[in-house]
Amino acid sequence: MASSYHEVYQGWKMDPQGFWKEAAAAIDWFTPAEKIFDPSHGVYGAWFTGATCNTCYNCVDRHVERGRKGQAAIIHDSPITGKKRTITYEELLDEVQALAHVLKELGIEKGDRVIIYMPMVPEAAVAMLACARIGAIHSVVFGGFAAAELATRIDDSTPKLIISASCGIEPGRVIAYKPLLDKAIDLARHKVTKTVILQREELSCDLIEGRDFDYATTVGEAKAIDVQVPCEPVAATDPLYVLYTSGTTGQPKGVVRDNGGHMVALKWSMQNLYGIEPGEVFWAASDVGWVVGHSYIVYGPLLHGCTTILFEGKPVGTPDAGTFWRVISEHGVAALFTAPTAFRAIKKEDPKGEFVGKYDMTTLRTLFLAGERADPDTIHWAEDKLKVPVIDHWWQTETGWAIAGNPVGLGTLPVKYGSPTVAMPGYDMRVLDDAGHPLEPNQLGNIVVKLPLPPGCLPTLWHADTRFKDAYLAEFPGYYKTADAGFIDEDGYLYIMARTDDIINVAGHRLSTGAMEEVIAEHKDVAECAVIGIADKLKGQLPLGFLILNSGVNRDPAEIEKEVVALVRDKIGPVAAFKLAIAVKRLPKTRSGKILRGTMQKIADGEEWKMPATIDDPAILDEIGETLKERGISD
Ligand code: COA
Ligand code: AMP
Repeated sequence: MASSYHEVYQGWKMDPQGFWKEAAAAIDWFTPAEKIFDPSHGVYGAWFTGATCNTCYNCVDRHVERGRKGQAAIIHDSPITGKKRTITYEELLDEVQALAHVLKELGIEKGDRVIIYMPMVPEAAVAMLACARIGAIHSVVFGGFAAAELATRIDDSTPKLIISASCGIEPGRVIAYKPLLDKAIDLARHKVTKTVILQREELSCDLIEGRDFDYATTVGEAKAIDVQVPCEPVAATDPLYVLYTSGTTGQPKGVVRDNGGHMVALKWSMQNLYGIEPGEVFWAASDVGWVVGHSYIVYGPLLHGCTTILFEGKPVGTPDAGTFWRVISEHGVAALFTAPTAFRAIKKEDPKGEFVGKYDMTTLRTLFLAGERADPDTIHWAEDKLKVPVIDHWWQTETGWAIAGNPVGLGTLPVKYGSPTVAMPGYDMRVLDDAGHPLEPNQLGNIVVKLPLPPGCLPTLWHADTRFKDAYLAEFPGYYKTADAGFIDEDGYLYIMARTDDIINVAGHRLSTGAMEEVIAEHKDVAECAVIGIADKLKGQLPLGFLILNSGVNRDPAEIEKEVVALVRDKIGPVAAFKLAIAVKRLPKTRSGKILRGTMQKIADGEEWKMPATIDDPAILDEIGETLKERGISD
């Protein structure tokens, strides 16, 4: 089919408000918007002001009311525990109402924050929806973060309650969540006085009398009396959730998502970008702790009346490199969305794709990749083995949905390998030089979005309008800074090349090297440090830390390196994947004292590099190169 993309994009450009007004008709509102876009509201304006709505109603109730009662809403497929569970829309409504009732009984009101610290179990999605139902603002924290990271999020979002579980499960180990939760509550300045804990069969935990409430007991009691909890009308501009993402320091950014614009954008994307019909099965193989999980495990598919898969496992090792194909064939998945790193992991285990042939995957129409740059090798392999279009698309926690993609629902455009294709309606993309001047096609620069951002994108950071302005809007007035560098070609295709800040991307996970440096600097024997991201065949990038030890330290540097690795794991969490720390004598710096991280990264990756004109002592770069060779990090 010929793509209607250009027509649709032009239509949006000619009449942005008309475009989003039409898209908003797919959502059920309690009261319609007075203004589609109000430039006087919030930091840069707001979408659907005056409207009231409820996200849970749109995700659950309306499907029950309109013929989807018996359809599976969530399929939990957990090869890591050997369990599977299907929850219909009707059952989901019961479960969500019951938990919403429990939350209300525990004193949660509209506008209160609730942290959700859970593994990939359906109760995590139920918790998100229960909060949405009563107008509480959830903040999901990824299970791979350590107690200190959880504590930082507790202090910033000041929740009244935390919903958690007794454990998460990683290959070969059960992770007790309760000690992490208790430690985080202890560490945080803001005191959380109530929790709801889901006890899992794999490992149960002790509950603290008066503080910890058992999920099964409380929800079970609410179900037994068949509680009805109406959906609370909230303003379209009210926050649905806060999701923390890495910034340039140890203080993560609380990305705020509103209710109205978020629903409109996600619903539009399900049909027009992903090309999915209501009733079909959509699978985002990510985690509810990431934005992909929020948007496309929970909200997008449910808003659209789809069945969503909540997968608790890994692409390899649970039990083998055929797991993804089994899930697709068993549940009739129409579209799979994951990070390229998952495919690199599968390709490494099963280069010939022999597992693919063992399953009937005729339902699969499209594979979507995001979260990191999709390398052409991985795309070619996936195309060759799966025989379906492989669509790279680019977005960020901040935007909540794709900035650029190849719109399957509108008809796909020709693929250019290495490009996530074109801007979605709502995004007016520009490439600017560092002084803010527009660049010609194919010239590398800062990728920015002309304000306003479309519905679904962050209106601000949680209780931090000034930080929001400083971090995203100040450098290029009138534009949102994506902090990605790249270019746009003569056909309007975007190319995303690198971050312009110190964020690195490890296995599709966004991590701050600055945050790691802050942790390393706490070690008593470390005088100075620098963390860079080096290329890794599997995970895309891996963090590597250089340490300068305090003078007078005469312990074995290898011992200190190990302690530093353990410290980062303990403070940030295993997800940091920080396993490489090297003690060096000196760090290369400019004459003004700036550490030359970029040059060190090029040396480590074996890329061509130029001696920076401003370098203080050129010999230090040779020393670094030698050390990297000795340690087997570069050749
Ligand atoms: N709870 C606790 N620990 C967790 C965790 C969680 N929810 N998730 C990951 N971890 C741990 C891992 O067990 C690992 O620990 P280890 O150092 O003891 O081995 C560490 O954090 C690093 O995790 P990760 O970088 O994900 O590596 P991995 O070896 O476990 O898996 C992949 C590698 C490629 C298979 C996996 O990252 C993957 O499937 N990624 C693609 C999908 C995805 O997550 N995308 C996110 C955005 S779309
Ligand atoms: P996150 O906020 O975790 O989703 O990470 C967002 C960042 O991941 C972006 O700013 C990019 O640097 C990177 N990213 C995400 N998707 C892509 C993609 N398709 N191509 C290149 N980089 C991507």
